[in-house]
Amino acid sequence: MKILVTGGAGFIGSNFVRYQLEHYPDQELVNLDALTYAGNLESLTDCEENPNYTFVKGDIAEVSDIEKLFAEHSFDMVVNFAAESHVDRSLHLGNDTFIRANILGVQILLDAARKFKVPRFMQVSTDEVYGSLGPQGRFTEESLIQPNNPYAATKTSADFLVRAAHKSFGLDVVTTRCSNNFGPFQFPEKLIPLMIANASEDKVLPVYGDGMHIRDWIYVEDHCSGIDAVLRKAKPGSIYNLGGDHDVPNIEIVKLILKALDKPESLIKYVEDRPGHDRRYAMDSSKAKADLGWSPSFTFAEGIKLTVDWYLANKKWWERIRSGDYLKYYEEMYQSRLNN
Ligand code: NAD
Ligand code: TYD
Repeated sequence: MKILVTGGAGFIGSNFVRYQLEHYPDQELVNLDALTYAGNLESLTDCEENPNYTFVKGDIAEVSDIEKLFAEHSFDMVVNFAAESHVDRSLHLGNDTFIRANILGVQILLDAARKFKVPRFMQVSTDEVYGSLGPQGRFTEESLIQPNNPYAATKTSADFLVRAAHKSFGLDVVTTRCSNNFGPFQFPEKLIPLMIANASEDKVLPVYGDGMHIRDWIYVEDHCSGIDAVLRKAKPGSIYNLGGDHDVPNIEIVKLILKALDKPESLIKYVEDRPGHDRRYAMDSSKAKADLGWSPSFTFAEGIKLTVDWYLANKKWWERIRSGDYLKYYEEMYQSRLNN
């Protein structure tokens, strides 16, 4: 069995690579990643020596990179994590890189999967394709598709291309739509690692709007086990929601992090809201639970403790990221917000 993971040097991808190598010692795994600002081989140093693991630098939006890779290897499964993944960047820095990676890249992978007769293709999608919930209810796989920001719109486009490859050409595809992940190796531009890093350095914690936007948080290892279950057990063409069953307002998460680090709430600063900011996400994962026997195994309290401990023990990993280009990004993104 040989599996291709794309975007395996990113947050969820690197956790998934590790999960696969640990759980399937007889399986070969190739990790293709373009190593954008979000890709970091330091997240995989413990996997490098594994004889079943190969890293290839390449871009899913380059036909030549993909055709060469698929011609060299005979893949049994492709799992596509590769994407531009940060909503704020898609809003403030333009979305051409999002369209290229998240839409064109997916089509190129689908074409290669068809051409080289790969038995199964998995697209790692997101709950953001459903848009925002009102005060009641949860997203099911039947919910309307209503993306509200450029990132979500590109992920939605990819979902439709994946669906079309199945309906038009009979490609065996499966799709997961997961809620907000947290855990080790998450790039410190996303809420939880940003707040841990800022709090541990006594820096301001910027909370958008009134802080009452709700996300459904899942520990990354539970997302990895969910993807694995869908990959190996789901019917061709199926879509599964995966969530952490822990939907809470952002401000609660931020206060909890401050408490865990024994830092004062005076570090919190309410800043200008994100445009088109989705108010509430909450997942109904009952289909995955019923069909696949999957459910999250980490409580939020367990996951956040593991995460805070990991960031405190691995300062080198994120301190290196938070120098150089990151500083420029942070200033561009937050300067006017923090000054207002
Ligand atoms: P990430 O930004 O940490 O990692 C993305 C990885 O993709 C990086 O290693 C980057 O180098 C690579 N990449 C980007 N463009 C590429 C290209 N053109 N070719 C090859 N590699 C490329 O993202 P993440 O948080 O790990 O998310 C992974 C996937 O999971 C994404 O598809 C995202 O939409 C989806 N997802 C994320 C979450 C979340 O909470 N983070 C939730 C649901 C779904
Ligand atoms: P984020 O981690 O960017 O994930 P997503 O936008 O994909 O849900 O943001 C999670 C929530 O936290 C979202 O409601 C925006 C909010 N947020 C802040 O309040 N401050 C911040 O500095 C960031 C990065 C996010």
